[in-house]
Amino acid sequence: MKKLWGGRFKENTSETVEAFTESISFDRRLWKYDIEGSIAHARMLGRQGIISKRDSDKIVCGLKEIALEIENGKFRFIPELEDIHMNIEAALTKKIGPAGKRLHTARSRNDQVALDLRLYLRDETNQIISLITLFEKGLIEIADNHIDAVMPGYTHTQRAQPVLLSHHFLAYVEMFERDKERFVDCLRRINRLPLGACALAGTSLPIDRAYVAKLLGFASVAENSIDAVSDRDFCVEFLSACSIFMVHLSRMAEEVVLWASEEFSFIELPDAFTTGSSIMPQKKNPDVAELVRGKTGRVFGSLVSLLTALKGLPLSYNRDMQEDKVQVFDATDTVKACLVVMNEMFPLIRFDKRRMFSAASETFATATDIAEYLVRKGMPFREAHEVTGRIVRYCIDNRERLGDLKMEDFRRFSPLFSRDVYQCISVDGSIKLKKSRGGTAKEEVKKQISRLRRTVTSNK
Ligand code: ARG
Repeated sequence: MKKLWGGRFKENTSETVEAFTESISFDRRLWKYDIEGSIAHARMLGRQGIISKRDSDKIVCGLKEIALEIENGKFRFIPELEDIHMNIEAALTKKIGPAGKRLHTARSRNDQVALDLRLYLRDETNQIISLITLFEKGLIEIADNHIDAVMPGYTHTQRAQPVLLSHHFLAYVEMFERDKERFVDCLRRINRLPLGACALAGTSLPIDRAYVAKLLGFASVAENSIDAVSDRDFCVEFLSACSIFMVHLSRMAEEVVLWASEEFSFIELPDAFTTGSSIMPQKKNPDVAELVRGKTGRVFGSLVSLLTALKGLPLSYNRDMQEDKVQVFDATDTVKACLVVMNEMFPLIRFDKRRMFSAASETFATATDIAEYLVRKGMPFREAHEVTGRIVRYCIDNRERLGDLKMEDFRRFSPLFSRDVYQCISVDGSIKLKKSRGGTAKEEVKKQISRLRRTVTSNK
């Protein structure tokens, strides 16, 4: 097949090379953006008198028809035409004749592909932000509906202090809020127009880049034509925002796996979101959460892959950069799929509040509260820590729990103890006392719920 760039070549491209270099198998998903960009470009060319108004209109009509054909599955993508840009351009010329050959004036695939990718990522980033918001809202509802549920909070995976289950989930909402900030910030740099950089040097033709930017809704124009075709920072930033987000989602997934285990038994997963074992009939496995955790590595891989592909590249465009799309597409698909499934699964999780409560009360989770009690009675914290440590030791040696200790037992450790100590030994009492800003007391958590309800929906 004759190539669009066939003029200087005597031989045909080898089939092996065609198969090796093609990108149509994956960049076809950019078709909508490629057409949108070409329509804006053709309008500008017509407006500037670089091509006739008639040709410009013909091109726009032809491109719109092609868009419909692709949408309806009637378009035939041709691998020999290498990529989405040449597939659409060739189809256009076939459809409208010579006018089609004027579309690629004052443009190159280098600035075109950068444009398509930016348009694509602008959409995808906004979609991811909306999906995160949806998930956050669900978590806030769970937090609100379980405001009385208590669980042991952990450090080092050891029971540490009692906390509200709601508080625990709101911690994730905080993380996701930061993720959204990162995506929104990334959008600022995605949203710059590279088109008009042409191959790398700009053009001798009187183009109007600001007009194209306006048509396509870009906030600004990439000012240096060499940078415009070399730059993939916006992809790297996007992939790192995805990676950090996946760290959060993966930690959450890990807790689902842990909590669903018989050892923890804090939650029961909905049947529809678990799978059985082909050999062990009793099994109910948390595969969704495991796969979210597993797929996280894939997203990190995309980030590292792209960074590696870019690090040795001399300016400006190099074909290595074709690989950017493989990474960006895989990461967007993965992040979105993980978000959708977690968002569907979470509201169906059943919490065993009794089990969580007893896990919080079974150990010495309120020991810190005793130390703080002594501080309130005037003892320096270091001493209070020491005294409480001895009380815990005593309980362990005598197989007792803090709540079993009598007043005289406490008094043997310090004369500062009086009856009110029992209030802070109980799990509920301990939680009630954590009124510091951001703490786990119910009023505080309720404040966090109403603040997040407001901020989660507002645009970053
Ligand atoms: N398919 C190419 C890519 O994805 C388009 C740009 C090709 N440019 C070139 N000069 N060969 O990067």
